[in-house]
Amino acid sequence: MNNALKNYLSDCQNRAERALDARLPPAAQLPQKLHEAMRYTVLGGGKRKRPMLTYCTGKTLGIAPEALDGPACAVEFIHVYSLIHDDLPAMDDDDLRRGKATCHVAYDEATAILTGDALQALAFQILAHDPSITTSAAKRLQMITVLARASGSQGMVGGQAIDLESVGKALTLPELENMHIHKTGALIRASIQLATLAIPEVQPDIASKLDHYAKCIGLSFQVKDDILDEESDTVTLGKTQGKDQDNDKPTYPALLGLEGARQKARELHEQAVESLNVFGGEADLLRALSLYIIERDH
Ligand code: IPE
Ligand code: IPE
Ligand code: MG
Ligand code: MG
Ligand code: MG
Repeated sequence: MNNALKNYLSDCQNRAERALDARLPPAAQLPQKLHEAMRYTVLGGGKRKRPMLTYCTGKTLGIAPEALDGPACAVEFIHVYSLIHDDLPAMDDDDLRRGKATCHVAYDEATAILTGDALQALAFQILAHDPSITTSAAKRLQMITVLARASGSQGMVGGQAIDLESVGKALTLPELENMHIHKTGALIRASIQLATLAIPEVQPDIASKLDHYAKCIGLSFQVKDDILDEESDTVTLGKTQGKDQDNDKPTYPALLGLEGARQKARELHEQAVESLNVFGGEADLLRALSLYIIERDH
């Protein structure tokens, strides 16, 4: 990745960090413990890949980042809520996240459940009211619908339900793909769709190419997450390595072997990049992000 791209991505990360901070209730505001837990889990440590995807889709379409702060934060708040609940004893039972104690360990289980609930509500409040969103009321409503579908039983939560039902089972490749598309792919896809809704009109063929890109990287993201769970280490990951095997989860490496999983991630990256062929250099950031997703070490 060249330096200009790297700098842009790091600017996006910093921008997301500030935008999230500004939208979280102050820790001193009642109920204090809940607000502290919201700030503890959201701020510091996340790589902000979903906000980056929102901002970089905006850059590709000529949308200023100022108009995307609300959507970028909304999707990250849903993501953090999903991580807090994913780590609960009733789910993956993890005590380390982003290099820190998980929410239920740092606080308690009830607070972790409520922190997730509150972040989810905040995401939709932002889409409904955030002043950064200057598109029409109709587009705002579409944004709310997109994020709601991506979050609920037809999206992330549905995928998490399949994940839990699949413990100890040998899934077929299409079943595994379906689980990953829902539990991780849906929110990644929403990060990109929300950006396309921030301006009055995106040509349907452009929107559909971007959506195909989003579907490919949404899947490659979880394939890589499964690979890292197997081959990385706890310090680099900031979360406990080897949990999938411990919890008997069906994963890409379990089904295809590590090399098969790596090959799958490369194929998805190639398909993602191919769907950007309608664009010129303005989509270089999205090309770089797709590569980063399959080459990252955490
Ligand atoms: C981890 O997501 C959980 C999955 C959906 C696989 P990230 O790898 O984006 O985690 P953070 O946000 O950087 O901590
Ligand atoms: C998590 O998948 C997906 C969501 C949180 C929705 P994982 O359970 O594999 O995520 P990590 O590995 O704990 O980050
Ligand atoms: Mg999980
Ligand atoms: Mg987990
Ligand atoms: Mg994982």
